[in-house]
Amino acid sequence: MTDTAALNQKYFNQIASDYDRRYEKSLGQVEKEIKNARDFIGMRQGGRALDYACGTGLLSRSMGEDASQCIGIDISDSMVEAYNAKAKLEGAFPDKREAHLGNLIDPSDPSPAAFSDPKFSNFDLAGVGAGFHHFDDPALAARRLAERLRPGGVLFIMDFMPREIDEGMRSHGVTHHGFSEGQMRSVFEGAGVGGEFRFKELAEPFVMHNANGDGKHKSLRMFFARGSKL
Ligand SMILES: C[S@@+](CC[C@H](N)C(=O)[O-])C[C@H]1O[C@@H](n2cnc3c(N)ncnc32)[C@H](O)[C@@H]1O
Repeated sequence: MTDTAALNQKYFNQIASDYDRRYEKSLGQVEKEIKNARDFIGMRQGGRALDYACGTGLLSRSMGEDASQCIGIDISDSMVEAYNAKAKLEGAFPDKREAHLGNLIDPSDPSPAAFSDPKFSNFDLAGVGAGFHHFDDPALAARRLAERLRPGGVLFIMDFMPREIDEGMRSHGVTHHGFSEGQMRSVFEGAGVGGEFRFKELAEPFVMHNANGDGKHKSLRMFFARGSKL
C-alpha cells in the first residue's frame, strides 16, 4: 500500500461513523444534483454501477432505481461497514447495494485477486464521488476504472474545481487541490473513456464545516465530468 493509501485508510477509518452527520447538508444537496444529472451522466437505464471510493454510499444511493445494482469498493473498512449498514437499513443489501474493502489503484497490483470475479467487471458505470483528490495518480485511477467498464460504459467523476493549496488537508489524505476541465479531459482521453466527454461546474459549493479542525468553514466549488469507453 502506498503512503497516501495508508493515510486515507487511517483518516477515513477515524471519521467514518461521523461522516454523514458532519457533511449532512452538502451530501443531501449533492445527492439531489446527481439525481438531476441523469441525462448528463447518460448511464444505460437499469445498468450496473461501480461506486469506487464509495464511502458511506452517496453515489450508490443517488443512482436510485436507475441502477439495477451498485457495488461499492473502498480502502477504509469502517466506510465499507457504514455503507453496508445503511444498505441493510434501507433493504437494499446485498442485491441492490453492497460494498467491499479494497484498492483497485495500487500501482504494484494491477489485477487484485479479490476482484477477479465477473461481478466486478463489465459495469455500465464506474463513478468516483470526491475521491480523485485523494489518489496518488488520477490518470492511473481512470485507466483502472475504465478496464472495469463494458464498451460504451460511462466513467463519472465528481470532484472539486482548482483551489488554493492547503497543506492542512494532507493529513486527511488529500493529494490534489482540485482539477480543471482541461486536466479532466486529458485524464478521460488518456484512459480511453473520452467519448462524449462532458464537464460542468455545479451552481452550489460543497461546504465543509470545521474542515481543518480550526472551527473555520471551507466552501469548495464542485464539478461533474463524464465520458464513455471507446
Ligand atoms: C471524501 S470521501 C468520499 C466518499 C463518497 N464517495 C462520497 O462522495 O461521500 C473519500 C473516500 O475515498 C476513499 N479512498 C481513498 N483512497 C482510496 C483508494 N486508493 N481506494 C479506494 N478508496 C479510497 C476513502 O476511504 C473515502 O471513503
